[in-house]
Amino acid sequence: MDRELMDRGPMDRGLMDRGLMDRELANGIEREARPAKAVDDAAISARGLTKRFGETTAVDNIDLLIRKGELFGLLGANGAGKSTIIKMLTTMLTPTSGEAKVWGYDIVRERSQVRSSIGVVFQDPALDGMLTGRENLDFHGRMYGMDSALRKARIADVLELVDLKDKADIQMQDYSGGMKRRLEIARGLMHRPHVLFLDEPTIGLDAQTRRYIWEYISRMNREMGVTIILTTHYMEEADFLCDRVAIMDRGRIVALDRPENLKDAIGSDTITLVTDSDKDALIRSFQSFSWIKSISSDNGSIKLQVDHAQSRVAEIVLEASRNNAVISSVGLHKPTLEDVFIKYTGKRMEESGSRNKRAEMAPPRGGR
Ligand SMILES: Nc1ncnc2c1ncn2[C@@H]1O[C@H](COP(=O)(O)OP(=O)(O)OP(=O)(O)O)[C@@H](O)[C@H]1O
Ligand SMILES: [Mg+2]
Repeated sequence: MDRELMDRGPMDRGLMDRGLMDRELANGIEREARPAKAVDDAAISARGLTKRFGETTAVDNIDLLIRKGELFGLLGANGAGKSTIIKMLTTMLTPTSGEAKVWGYDIVRERSQVRSSIGVVFQDPALDGMLTGRENLDFHGRMYGMDSALRKARIADVLELVDLKDKADIQMQDYSGGMKRRLEIARGLMHRPHVLFLDEPTIGLDAQTRRYIWEYISRMNREMGVTIILTTHYMEEADFLCDRVAIMDRGRIVALDRPENLKDAIGSDTITLVTDSDKDALIRSFQSFSWIKSISSDNGSIKLQVDHAQSRVAEIVLEASRNNAVISSVGLHKPTLEDVFIKYTGKRMEESGSRNKRAEMAPPRGGR
C-alpha cells in the first residue's frame, strides 16, 4: 500500500473522530433525535427516509446519523429493507419521501458528488466472470476516469489489501466464492472512497473465509479511516465488526446502539445448574446471596440471574457443595445479539426466513 493511501485525510479524520465519537456514543440512541443537519462530521444523515414499492413500504420513515470513521451495521431478516436503504444512499433508487446526505451531498440533488464519495459492493455480484481480476479492476478505474498510471498503482494497492496479487491474472469465474467477494471489495476501494457500502459482504461464505473478510473490513476502517456501512443477517458479524448496529424490522429501525450496550440492556447473565438433589433446599440457600437477582427452577435445573456470571460460578458451586447437592452440569449464558434481535423483532433470525440465499444456489467454496 502506498503512503498516499495511508496518509490521506479520511484516515486522520477517522482516528480523530473516534475519540469524539466514543464520548458521544455514550449517549446511545438519544443522539439520533438531534436534527441531522446540525452535525458537521456526519458521513451519512437521513431524515424520514422512506421507500415504497406499490403497497410495500420497504423503508419506513428512517432517521439515521452515521459519523465519519464509523463502522456501522444494518442487521435484519430477509425483506427488512437493508438493501433498499443502501440503494437509496448510493443513488441507485430515489426515495419516495424524506431526505439524506452522504458525505454532505444530497442523494437526490447531488448524485454525482455522492457517487464520487462512495464505493459500493452490492448484494448481487457485479463483476464480469470472463475478465481477470486485474481487468475487472482496470475497467472500474476507467469508469472513474483514472489514467493508466493511476489505475496501475491503485490496482496494485487494492490487490495487496485483499491478498489477491497472485490471482490477479486468472479469470474471475475461476475464483472461489471468498475470492470473488474480496475482488468486489477491492473494486469498491479503487477510487479511494470516503464511505464504503457493503451489502451482505460475507453471504454464502464459509466461516473461515468470512473471518478473513472481517479482517479486511476492519483494516479498511481502522487503518485507512474509511467509513463503512454494512448490512448483514449474521449476528456474530455485526457483533464482531460494528461500532454500532441498527436492528431493522419491516422497514423500521427498532433498536440502535453499540452491540455491547444492546446486550447489556437485555439483562443479566444466566447460570443454569442441573441437579437431581433437593432443589428447594438449594434455592433457599441461594436466596441469602443479595447479588443473585432472581431464581427459577424447572425440570431438574435451577436458573440464576446474575451480573458478571463468570466471577460468580465458583461461589455458586461451592454453596451447592455446602448443601451436599450433586451438580451434574453448570451452564453460563450471556445475552447475545440474537437475544437482542428476538427482543426487538419478536422472532429468531432463522425463523424470520433469513436463510442463506446465495448458499442455497451454490454450495459455498473455500476461501483464500
Ligand atoms: N424493486 C422492487 N420492487 C418491489 N418490491 C421491492 C423491490 N425491492 C425490494 N422490494 C421489497 O422491499 C422489501 C425490502 O427489500 P430489501 O431487498 O430492501 O430487503 P433486505 O433487508 O435487503 O433483505 P435480504 O436480507 O433478503 O437481502 C421486501 O419486501 C422486498 O420484496
Ligand atoms: Mg438485501
